[in-house]
Amino acid sequence: MNTFFRSTFKSLFIALLLSLPVSTLLAGEGMWIPLLLSALNESEMKAMGMKMSADDIYNVNKGSLKDAIVHFSGFCTGEVISNQGLLLTNHHCGYGTIQSHSTLENNYLKDGFWAKSKAEEIPSPGLYAKFIVRIEDVTDKVFDGVRDKMTTTEIDSIQKVNIRSLQSEIETTAYQDTEIRSFFEGNQYFLFVTETYTDIRYVGSPPESIGKFGSDTDNWVWPRHTGDFALFRIYAGPDNKPAPYAEENIPYTPKHFLPVSLDGIEEGDFTLVFGFPGTTQQYLPSFAVQQIVDIIDPARIAVRDISLDIMKRYMVADEAIKLAYSSKYATISNYWKKWIGEIQGLKKANAVRMKEKQEEEFTALISKNKKLKAKYENLLPELKVLYRDLDIVAKNRTILGEVLGGRNTEVFRLASYADRLYRAYSQHGAEGQPYLETKDATKERLEGFFKDYSAEVDAELFSAMMVHLVNHLDSEYLPDGIPKARDEHTLHQWASALFEQSSLSDKDSFLQAIEKGGDAYAEWIQSDSLYQLYLSLRGVYNDKLAVYNRALYEKIDPLQTAYVTALMEAYPDRRFWPDANGTLRVSYGLVEPFSPKDGLMYKTQTYLDGVMEKYIPGDYEFDVHPKLIELYENGDFGPYGEDGKMPVCFIASNHSTGGNSGSPAIDASGNLIGLNFDRVWEGTMSDLYYDRSICRNIMVDARYILFVIDKFGGAGNLIEEMKLVHPKS
Ligand code: ARG
Ligand code: GLU
Repeated sequence: MNTFFRSTFKSLFIALLLSLPVSTLLAGEGMWIPLLLSALNESEMKAMGMKMSADDIYNVNKGSLKDAIVHFSGFCTGEVISNQGLLLTNHHCGYGTIQSHSTLENNYLKDGFWAKSKAEEIPSPGLYAKFIVRIEDVTDKVFDGVRDKMTTTEIDSIQKVNIRSLQSEIETTAYQDTEIRSFFEGNQYFLFVTETYTDIRYVGSPPESIGKFGSDTDNWVWPRHTGDFALFRIYAGPDNKPAPYAEENIPYTPKHFLPVSLDGIEEGDFTLVFGFPGTTQQYLPSFAVQQIVDIIDPARIAVRDISLDIMKRYMVADEAIKLAYSSKYATISNYWKKWIGEIQGLKKANAVRMKEKQEEEFTALISKNKKLKAKYENLLPELKVLYRDLDIVAKNRTILGEVLGGRNTEVFRLASYADRLYRAYSQHGAEGQPYLETKDATKERLEGFFKDYSAEVDAELFSAMMVHLVNHLDSEYLPDGIPKARDEHTLHQWASALFEQSSLSDKDSFLQAIEKGGDAYAEWIQSDSLYQLYLSLRGVYNDKLAVYNRALYEKIDPLQTAYVTALMEAYPDRRFWPDANGTLRVSYGLVEPFSPKDGLMYKTQTYLDGVMEKYIPGDYEFDVHPKLIELYENGDFGPYGEDGKMPVCFIASNHSTGGNSGSPAIDASGNLIGLNFDRVWEGTMSDLYYDRSICRNIMVDARYILFVIDKFGGAGNLIEEMKLVHPKS
């Protein structure tokens, strides 16, 4: 960021707060900072049906909604739903933990688990729940001493010093941490005081056939019928403060917890999603979005098309491979599917053209204002040239990054483990502590790795990836070791032979080499040609592609920052929201249907009837548990059903992204009505361009969660500690 752009920012921002048009119902777009709701959003939220005040959502002096929300282990969101620290999040957020507690005899993934008393709750090291104690705008302090015309490097170093001294000055107690984060591409800075609890215990989850119903086929898809939830509990020391795990720790008493509504939703209802969205890029110019649509997304998809195809073929044919690869497959396919939806959505919404129009309008507007024109006239044209310069590198870097990343052919992951150990040895010697530690860590890694690995599958993946590189990388990025012949047969032969002679994919050889250690290990790894190929490919990636990429982004970043500033100056009456950056945000929208394509309308609610419609006995994605069938057939829904039907999922126009998984959906008065876990496929482009006509988030209905816990799981003990309410009657 540049002071040049920054000088007017503060006053502008204040002008913005005062000049908000109350009547424009923007509903949907935006992930807002809780601290600024009263200034920016409250009136609109009320006009949309909210009955709370901004103060009920975020307040540092009394319990407010924010005190029930946690960052769950850094990758998801969770919320407290009882006065005993009961924590709700998604099944897919707890998946790794549930898997780690599962054995063949006690398979909690397959059969589910419900702790019938606190003594049965399972300690889960590695998990944490981070609360936000307070948020402060520290922009002025971070910019203290920054002057016009300083270089980006000068500004960076001043800001680093300011941030460090701010962090040391800020008053916190022993168990609190502080974080200072940049917003609006470095135009604004906020400080977060946090408290992190690390004694988290696993309380319960439904079987996968409910928690992951529909699996990859239904992932990102509406209509949806997944009960994607799991329960944990936060434990605290005797003073209710964070404490390391100890058996005698006590359930955490929250400042606030969310009551659960039994009244459900109907079309037009106000909904709010509160959580920790990861990344969005709303302020990319049209040509950067074009690059994603034309180059980056297709390059990623093409690599994954190949690996998913190969894995699927083996998984279908072999039960053991299916088990070993299903989680890896799900990870690769999750974003593969998202990117396909993203391209389609961007095209359908005409996003590039819409952005071009906005840019034309912006250019016309600033050309009428001498000051703005002088400052910003060259901004977009310069950015455009830089993005064009990036095109080729972006393509090659994306392809090589996907292939080297260790997902689409795993032998490169093995090569990276081997390399780390080799470097520890060559730097620290056979007796060096770092080498000895890396040695132990590598052995442990390999044990885990080879548990779910088939060299046969990987050999085919490797071969296919090599053919792909030769056919799609520009020749200057192909290292010498790779034959340049495009004839597939020759390439396959070469790749298979290379894989065959390498001992990286052979667990015993690898472990033996590590055991021998020292020079013998060095010799073993150095003589492996596949390892050498890995090094040359990585060399191309780091020395050619990453260096060039970084050099371009050093120019793009400040301009991108300036573009956000320029937009704010050009449109002083418009309300802006900062891109998601993993900090606490509020999104709000309405329960509303949408049309994914001509002639088709998607309703807002699904029911258990839909689970039965999708039921395929014995299928790994669509099997239904006999007990659920029985409850369905008897219409035994307890107080959770609605007119003889059992609601399962619903959609609304809340703007959400990765990291919002596990976020609560909250009604007009602050009660839990659902649990966010996905978006509709047609609208996954909302990370780049939000369009309310096709963007919806997907939530599990809170009533389905209660029904599954109570009627299916028989865990009435958990229902009892919640506060069930009827806000509508
Ligand atoms: N699409 C959801 C989210 O990004 C759910 C992912 C987990 N489920 C799955 N089938 N892979 O992350
Ligand atoms: N499933 C996503 C997550 O894990 C949330 C869905 C989305 O990207 O909106 O955070």
